[in-house]
Amino acid sequence: MNRSVLFWLLLVVDGVFAADDVKSVSVSVLVGDSVTLNTDDTETQGAEALRWKIQDEKQFIAEIDKEAGKKPDVPGNNDERFKGRLELDDQTGSLTITNLKTTDSRVYELHIKKKESKCTRFNVTVRDAVKTVSVMEGESVTLPTGVIEIQGYDLVLWKFKDNSVAEINKGTNQFLVYDSDDVRFKGRLQLNEKSGSLIISNSKTTDSGDYHLNMSSSSHFLQRTIGVTVNESGLSPGAVAGIVIVVAVLLVAAVVAVYHCRK
Ligand SMILES: *[C@@H]1O[C@H](CO)[C@@H](O)[C@H](O)[C@H]1NC(C)=O
Ligand SMILES: *[C@@H]1O[C@H](CO)[C@@H](O)[C@H](O)[C@H]1NC(C)=O
Repeated sequence: MNRSVLFWLLLVVDGVFAADDVKSVSVSVLVGDSVTLNTDDTETQGAEALRWKIQDEKQFIAEIDKEAGKKPDVPGNNDERFKGRLELDDQTGSLTITNLKTTDSRVYELHIKKKESKCTRFNVTVRDAVKTVSVMEGESVTLPTGVIEIQGYDLVLWKFKDNSVAEINKGTNQFLVYDSDDVRFKGRLQLNEKSGSLIISNSKTTDSGDYHLNMSSSSHFLQRTIGVTVNESGLSPGAVAGIVIVVAVLLVAAVVAVYHCRK
């Protein structure tokens, strides 16, 4: 093979790869979360077919095939690994995986067939985490977002019993804790500026319940529920003092009794 042919071949191969537009996204979530992998409107509009698969696997886990005029289908739900945990949005084509497990950590690929084919790779990492927190009254509680930097997210919303308690909103440029109007938390809530984690200090039994987190970025959206139980501390300081006095009195009585018996 002479040099010019080789050069020409390399050009062609390079051209093939360039036409197949690939975008990569990292998604970090915790066990039990529900995550939605978004499609890009500008890319899905006018698409002939839209297919989700796991990298290096042949079988599609979800598909919308307009070309063939078929109904949207989610074959992945019959898969042992997902067993009904996949939801496909018929309109946008976005894929939701509910109740995440560590074994769902994979690269998911979205293939869009248009004039040119496009591919988005979502590298989903599911980390183990505590989904329920139990503390004694007065202790502080930290509810994690699971990320070190919140930067990539446009919205972080913490809710307790249907009320928003804290919010980071890039669109409106807000970094808010709604605890001044809320008599339950009055000044006891704090948002970690870097991670977006919620801290409840000096916890009370009335803080017990489910806390909901919504986080969204342009590429994905996640929902999390963390159950918090604040236990009443069994003994009040007064009760402890009472017990100490009773024990002391009994000890003195015993010493006196022993002394009298010896005599
Ligand atoms: C996916 O992300 C994880 C964690 O960040 C990383 O260790 C892994 O190498 C990534 N995999 C790919 C195929 O990019
Ligand atoms: C948060 O998640 C809930 C639960 O599905 C959803 O109904 C709600 O619209 C989300 N809120 C925001 C602000 O995204």
